[in-house]
Amino acid sequence: MLKPGSTIGILGGGQLGRMLAHAAQQLGFDICIFTDEDDSPAARVSAQTFVADYRDAQALAAFAKRVDVVTTEFENVPAETAQALIDAGALVRPSSQALAIAQDRFDEKSFFNAQGIATPRFAAIASQADLDTAIADMGAPAILKTRRLGYDGRGQIRIKTKADAQGAYAQLGAPGILEAFCPFEREVSIIAARGEDGAVAFYDLCENEHAGGILSRTVLPADVKDDVAARGRDAVKKVLDAFDYVGVLTIEFFVMPNGALVANEMAPRVHNSGHWTIEGALTSQFEQHIRAVAGWPLGPTTRVAGIEMLNLIGDDADTWPTLAADPEARLHLYGKRDARTGRKMGHVTKLKLR
Ligand SMILES: Nc1ncnc2c1ncn2[C@@H]1O[C@H](COP(=O)(O)OP(=O)(O)O)[C@@H](O)[C@H]1O
Ligand SMILES: [Mg+2]
Repeated sequence: MLKPGSTIGILGGGQLGRMLAHAAQQLGFDICIFTDEDDSPAARVSAQTFVADYRDAQALAAFAKRVDVVTTEFENVPAETAQALIDAGALVRPSSQALAIAQDRFDEKSFFNAQGIATPRFAAIASQADLDTAIADMGAPAILKTRRLGYDGRGQIRIKTKADAQGAYAQLGAPGILEAFCPFEREVSIIAARGEDGAVAFYDLCENEHAGGILSRTVLPADVKDDVAARGRDAVKKVLDAFDYVGVLTIEFFVMPNGALVANEMAPRVHNSGHWTIEGALTSQFEQHIRAVAGWPLGPTTRVAGIEMLNLIGDDADTWPTLAADPEARLHLYGKRDARTGRKMGHVTKLKLR
């Protein structure tokens, strides 16, 4: 177990790092951020920050020396970054293998299938010819996504009819994956943690609504049957064990009208659909992740209320005076300097106490 006073290094300086820092601070740890951006949300609440390129070997070596464990709040950290840190003697949690697979949508879905976890049909797309073949085979509607670096619905092209596939590969501009469109009934996520000792703790299933590919609202309890939730937990446990995972991991699923669960993607980190755990669970996902990577026992995940979490995206955050005056709204703002369209600026959690 890392002693209080130890330093936890975080790759990435966004709001997830900021909320991890808040939780780490409660347990007496210092946070050191590594990010390629100046003035990041996490840097402003952390003991120290390295601002450098993720491939800057010298800066990474210095960071590795400064911290007792390294984790990440941002899954698109280059694979070489994790390797450079390991080479410099750092303990990296979760493992670089989990990070690498979660970074590539094709590898990720192949990995799910190898674990016996269903996904939408998919095919790797490296040319317009590949896309034409896949569309002829799979039909429309379908979604063309970049294999790497997509988030919040970016790097995706919806192919509603076969004609939409024309020229779509050039428009995507990067190696891709074509996925059959999944006519789901609802979207859910399962957030879980695995400790150093292999213990696993699950949060209640979250029901998620997206707008324009970005999470807009999370509600609990989710409107799904117990056996659906149990199957989802089994899938998450398989993934955690396969990676000998240490930390919080999230899997997003589609729930089909017949109750089947189809895995969409995983995030090897804390997740936006788990922000409600700050007020709504006995241990927040942020504290849980810090506990896991520090080798501490996991905390209880019990949910204490009905939940509605609303993301504040772009100029939604301008409503902060109203939200600040609303006794039902627990307001979180991430300290981002400009409210660009589609940017997550904060969130609000509303609790319905039982
Ligand atoms: N195969 C699919 N079928 C139906 N909807 C999808 C599919 N893939 C993605 N979506 C929709 O787009 C959203 C964002 O896609 P996702 O793959 O989760 O990318 P991101 O990494 O941007 O979150 C999903 O939450 C879902 O609403
Ligand atoms: Mg997603």
